Amino acid sequence: MSERETSVLLTGGAGYVGAATADALLAEGHRVVILDDLSSGHTDTIPNEASFKTGSYGETDKMEELLRDARIDVIVHCGAKSIVAESDEHPDRYFANNVQASLNLLNAACNIGVKRMVFSSSAAVYGAPTSSTINEATALAPVNTYGATKVAFELALRSFADAYEMQSISLRYFNVAGSTERVRERHDPETHLLPRLIHAAESGEPFFIYGNDYATPDGSALRDYVHVADVAAANLAAVNYLLRDGAPTGHNAVNIGSGVGTSVKQAISAVERATKRTVNVQVQPRRAGDPPRLIADITRAVALLNWRPRQSETTRIIRSLIG
Ligand SMILES: NC(=O)c1ccc[n+]([C@@H]2O[C@H](COP(=O)([O-])OP(=O)(O)OC[C@H]3O[C@@H](n4cnc5c(N)ncnc54)[C@H](O)[C@@H]3O)[C@@H](O)[C@H]2O)c1
Repeated sequence: MSERETSVLLTGGAGYVGAATADALLAEGHRVVILDDLSSGHTDTIPNEASFKTGSYGETDKMEELLRDARIDVIVHCGAKSIVAESDEHPDRYFANNVQASLNLLNAACNIGVKRMVFSSSAAVYGAPTSSTINEATALAPVNTYGATKVAFELALRSFADAYEMQSISLRYFNVAGSTERVRERHDPETHLLPRLIHAAESGEPFFIYGNDYATPDGSALRDYVHVADVAAANLAAVNYLLRDGAPTGHNAVNIGSGVGTSVKQAISAVERATKRTVNVQVQPRRAGDPPRLIADITRAVALLNWRPRQSETTRIIRSLIG
């Protein structure tokens, strides 16, 4: 299939990853239809070149109509609720939105014959593994409801791929961070480390480190940060992979990270250098369930999608957040 003629339905396209993904898809010549219920998205990040519909991907009838009328070839499913603490307080909302409503979308796609889907999964599917790097064969063992909902929908994609000859890819993003010229992180509440650190540096408010006695080089936890533009490029690479002539049916899970661990203390030093301010660090005890290291093995992303991170050095991500 010619890449120039393709139409992509992008759920959650008014959100952080979705808006950056819309830009990447449009730049490649794909037609983009954004569907977002604006529960956490922002209309001002929707590119003018994309069509926009307000609504939930959980409305099967409307989804069937949209998929048919817009002649969608592939769905990029970025829409979700994604606040971990809220997911444990309100599992009903998370299973309803991230699993049940997503299943409705998947059924609509199957009914209309749209058989390609790229899903925004998460490293949260792995929970707190002990291995030094995480590959896709690492056991799925989520430690929160949010991660459980991502596992549940991945399993549905796998079963649908087997039974209905669908082609799907679950991209397991690690910690998405950074800004592009048009898109920046505007989560409310902001739970992600780098934007919170920059806020702490600029405001002087205390910044809490949970645990500084882990078995890591400097005692603080190691995480894998991947630039949002690299994540958008991964979504584009997955779309192009599924659109290739002869792309096999089935489901693949693929880690999307930088492949490099950055410790909390390294992130603090980098933010201090970039902002020329001191962060008011306060060390707290470890939190239950926080693993010492979560670092992606990205071998499969390179092999399957010919994708590699290009902008994900932590200092570069931090500069993009400040600049
Ligand atoms: N940001 C990260 O670090 C990260 C890491 C791993 C995985 N992810 C996943 O990537 C995806 C995007 O995350 P994000 O950070 O851009 O979040 P976000 O909250 O900025 O974007 C999610 C978008 O989905 C929309 N949405 C939610 N429910 C919807 C529904 N039922 N119908 C239509 N639209 C709906 C929201 O309005 C929002 O615009 C999510 O699936 C998230 O779980 C994000």
